[in-house]
Amino acid sequence: MREDFLNRLPYAVYVVTARKGDGTKNGNVVTWLSQTGREPVPYLAAAVAKADYTHGFVDQAGAFAVHLLRQDQIELGKRFGFQSGRQADKFAGLAWREGPLGVPLLEDALGFAACRVVQRLDCGSHTLFVGEVVEGQAGQGEPLSAADFLRRANG
Ligand SMILES: Cc1cc2nc3c(=O)[nH]c(=O)nc-3n(C[C@H](O)[C@H](O)[C@H](O)COP(=O)(O)O)c2cc1C
Repeated sequence: MREDFLNRLPYAVYVVTARKGDGTKNGNVVTWLSQTGREPVPYLAAAVAKADYTHGFVDQAGAFAVHLLRQDQIELGKRFGFQSGRQADKFAGLAWREGPLGVPLLEDALGFAACRVVQRLDCGSHTLFVGEVVEGQAGQGEPLSAADFLRRANG
């Protein structure tokens, strides 16, 4: 079965965030994310579900931030991945700041990249947003893998 292959692909947990022109912001957990180019500029591509509230934010803003989580940030992952921004303000009580291109940056994340959307690819249920990386930073430590996150978030 093709799912046997797809379910074995290794991923990390990323939080993708974006802010609309009216100042509202949202984000979700994305695991389907990859660097897709290096020169002359690096690119990151994120597959965002069309049904997710975050989709409209990335689409309208034309920019998004990608965050790496630390291994102890299970609750942060649950906040962005287990509920929709349609029902909850995921940024409530979180330290954040406005980053390059107006993207909202989570202060406590292990690292971030700010990306300008340069291509949108229709992938059925998802849109692949290809972003040119305009800035990025990361601290020390191993990022949270999707396998660890799911084991500990559900355990
Ligand atoms: C482990 C995990 C991986 C996920 N991977 C993706 C993904 O690659 N792309 C995506 O659009 N949503 C992904 N999701 C789903 C969204 O994070 C989730 O539906 C979220 O609650 C949507 O929030 P929103 O409606 O506020 O955008 C994932 C969720 C989890 C828990």
